[in-house]
Amino acid sequence: MASIVMNNLTKSYDGEYKAVNNANLEIDEKEFCVLLGPSGCGKTTLLRMIAGLETITDGDLYLDGVHLNQVLPKDRNIAMVFQSYALYPHYSVYKNMAFGLKMKKIQKEEIDKRIKKAAEYLDLTEYLDRKPRNLSGGQQQRVALGRALVKQTKVFLMDEPLSNLDAKLRQQTRETIVKIHEDSEATTLYVTHDQVEAMTMGTKIVVMNRGVIQQMGTPEQIYEEPNNDFVAGFIGSPSINFIEGIVEEDSFISEDIKLKLTENQKDLLSDYQGKNVKLGIRPEHLYNEEDVKEDMFVSPIKMKINFIERLGAETILNGQVGSTRIVGKLAYFLKKALTDIELQVDMTKAHFFDMDTKEAIR
Ligand SMILES: Nc1ncnc2c1ncn2[C@@H]1O[C@H](COP(=O)(O)OP(=O)(O)O)[C@@H](O)[C@H]1O
Ligand SMILES: [Mg+2]
Repeated sequence: MASIVMNNLTKSYDGEYKAVNNANLEIDEKEFCVLLGPSGCGKTTLLRMIAGLETITDGDLYLDGVHLNQVLPKDRNIAMVFQSYALYPHYSVYKNMAFGLKMKKIQKEEIDKRIKKAAEYLDLTEYLDRKPRNLSGGQQQRVALGRALVKQTKVFLMDEPLSNLDAKLRQQTRETIVKIHEDSEATTLYVTHDQVEAMTMGTKIVVMNRGVIQQMGTPEQIYEEPNNDFVAGFIGSPSINFIEGIVEEDSFISEDIKLKLTENQKDLLSDYQGKNVKLGIRPEHLYNEEDVKEDMFVSPIKMKINFIERLGAETILNGQVGSTRIVGKLAYFLKKALTDIELQVDMTKAHFFDMDTKEAIR
């Protein structure tokens, strides 16, 4: 049974621009779904509609088959963790966690039991009497998580809960959140603008841009089969290389670069002969000659090196061919100094996009 269902869910604040535009999405029971997109794309708006904190302009929202549009937030059985934590500053950690439960008239002993369990789980036991301002950012974030956890709801909504934490703490808290999900089995919708977070945490990723859902799928699908050039450009680090050019017989030809097409691509692009297309190739699909494997179909490019980032386990080569900037990523530490290099492009990994629709040509 699907837990959360959205049919053409739409939100407009001003009657014109649609902050969320016709969102169709099903989130299965117990699933960990990540909503990913750049700042301003409508992620928070979507979450707030599900929580009932924002009215729905159009469309329908269901939880376990129940129409939710008019249901009050407190009756939705949903807990939300806010980006800003939204803790009550004058209340102790304990009271912050107890507040929502008291409102629900849950018995004192039960409240106490739940808070102590959550505090232990989140390493907050010794801070229960403190006020939020006397806690670190990471501890405050855990209080916010604890407050959601003690509600024992069937659904968790999390709005960029890690964005105010430093890198190391973010990594730790990521693990905590994944564990909370495993233990509680609550259906979780987790919002982030960070693609690494999305790829590592989600079993299903929903990519959004300008209010519109662009694609949903597993991390592999989103990475390997992007629906359009936005998704291709948003996922992956460093970003995919985009090159505009023409399909000419068995080649893709741009101003600076000529690449041979595979047999499949020749078929795929038969309607595009003589036409412009956009090619996308990820930095990790450019190789040094000696690293080329048999199942690849390579085409060489000679590039001038602008700068090299040596990251220990990998090497990022920033360069250009003519005026086309190209980034390559080698899966090892490259010691030698270089001014130019010939790299082999594995064309089996290339993506092609229609210049008008921006959709992937498949
Ligand atoms: N209360 C509001 N009133 C008017 N416009 C809003 C309001 N909240 C958000 N918006 C607009 O809706 C769009 C989506 O915002 P938001 O959902 O906060 O995006 P995200 O969380 O992805 O950064 C933005 O253009 C934003 O300016
Ligand atoms: Mg937001």
